[in-house]
Amino acid sequence: MEVLLHENADGASVVAGKIVARLVRQKPNAVLGLATGSTPLGLYRELIRLHQDEGLDFSQVTTFNLDEYIGVDGNHPCSYRRFMMENLFSGLNIPESQIHIPDGLASDIPAHCEAYEEAIQVAGGIDLQVLGIGSDGHLGFNEPTSSLASRTRIKTLTKETREDNARFFERPEDVPHHCITMGMGTILDSRVCLMLAFGENKASAVAQAVEGPVSAMIPASALQLHPHVHVLLDEGAARKLTRKDYYEHVYDNKPAWQQY
Ligand code: F6R
Repeated sequence: MEVLLHENADGASVVAGKIVARLVRQKPNAVLGLATGSTPLGLYRELIRLHQDEGLDFSQVTTFNLDEYIGVDGNHPCSYRRFMMENLFSGLNIPESQIHIPDGLASDIPAHCEAYEEAIQVAGGIDLQVLGIGSDGHLGFNEPTSSLASRTRIKTLTKETREDNARFFERPEDVPHHCITMGMGTILDSRVCLMLAFGENKASAVAQAVEGPVSAMIPASALQLHPHVHVLLDEGAARKLTRKDYYEHVYDNKPAWQQY
């Protein structure tokens, strides 16, 4: 696991953009796994800038989003489909047929989840998965005690997650209780994971995920089992790490070919 410490979210998002751009240049038909929420917004702005100002071509890229609320129409202002259209896809040139987001209105949810897993396989698997982390340690909506081998399925959100996400809804009681989420096994199958975390309210989850024991109580800790993970943090999110000196030392001594 590579832990990259940045002063602020903007600096980390630019580096995350470089990591994604390098992949897309090397493999124009890359498969990207994407997250919603506040955390990846800077990265998405950077990808749009790279596309519009530097001609980074996304026309062959395929995407799979991590999750979606159940019972929420894709056009609803709080749906993750709408979020992605407004914050990323409207600024890139990915054909809509190559964009995949779970359907929160699917009539047969288990069949839809199975088909989602199959579509990932058919696309060749996810090359790079963008991740945020919940204050309770979730990835996607794999809440604490989620199986670390789970696949795409229905999950019930914790009280903490519903409270965290209430800011996007008109009234706190409007936050759905259920979602469809890629599983931890789905996420761990990605060739590269890129986890971003910003702000002090993530510090405890980040410290447990990066330096704590691997445990289903902190699903993000399963990233320790993955061979290729970048963790990009701002000062607040890094506050509770105990090996910060080492992560900085590693970064300062990176061979030129490994630098961003
Ligand atoms: C959303 C997702 C979630 C968020 C996490 C952090 O697609 O997968 O795991 O990444 O809840 O949310 P923010 O970024 O809003 O703090």
